[in-house]
Amino acid sequence: MELLYEGKAKKVFSGSLPGTVRVEFKDSATAFNGQKKSEISDKGIVNAAVSARLFAWLSDHGLSTHFIEQQDARNLVVEQLTMIALEVVVRNVVAGSLHQRTGLNEGTALDVPIVEFYYKNDALGDPLLNDDHIQLLGLASPDLVAQLRQEALRINQVLTPFFNQRGVSLVDFKLEFGWNRAGDLKLGDEISPDTCRLWDTISGERLDKDRFRRDLGGIEEAYQEIYKRVMQ
Ligand code: TMP
Repeated sequence: MELLYEGKAKKVFSGSLPGTVRVEFKDSATAFNGQKKSEISDKGIVNAAVSARLFAWLSDHGLSTHFIEQQDARNLVVEQLTMIALEVVVRNVVAGSLHQRTGLNEGTALDVPIVEFYYKNDALGDPLLNDDHIQLLGLASPDLVAQLRQEALRINQVLTPFFNQRGVSLVDFKLEFGWNRAGDLKLGDEISPDTCRLWDTISGERLDKDRFRRDLGGIEEAYQEIYKRVMQ
């Protein structure tokens, strides 16, 4: 199968049916816009399985995703999407760049979830955009921005209890959307410990890629723990 695209954590190949692609999840990890690099054993296997489970869960709850089926341990078959150049971040608890930008204490629960949009542009380091910036750049109409916000918040409403039931707090996460061949808006990319902050509900232990970003150690064990809990 033809390699269509290789990113930092995934490869995309043409699919066996028109309008589909195969996504292979790699063990490579990067942080800080590719400046920090490493291999995390079996990360690809965890991220493929976790993404498949969460996409299927979202579909079962009436949300539209690109997911078709899991082919094998590292490969998902998904609909080919024309991606929107925005990263949509939903936050339930203060962490990461929200802490850095606002000075609010990490771990502070937000009364109402917040949604942020980042420009998917490696050369610029994926900067935060406001609605006017999105219009200026022609990335999405105001109606589409509203739709993305609503969809992201619905996804949060479905995923938050899923994780809570497994002793995990869904602190924040990043989503990417696109259009399939029929012109339907679909959730794409992945949902995994690479793209979510997942804290143990009781101990607060970080069970996500922050262990790599911040050199906390125990990254493989954290990914295996999320695998175990998500697959329950
Ligand atoms: P941030 O606090 O660094 O802005 O991250 C918010 C969420 O987005 C967090 O769950 C991690 C995820 N994320 C990605 O998936 N890719 C990225 O490149 C970055 C910076 C964050």
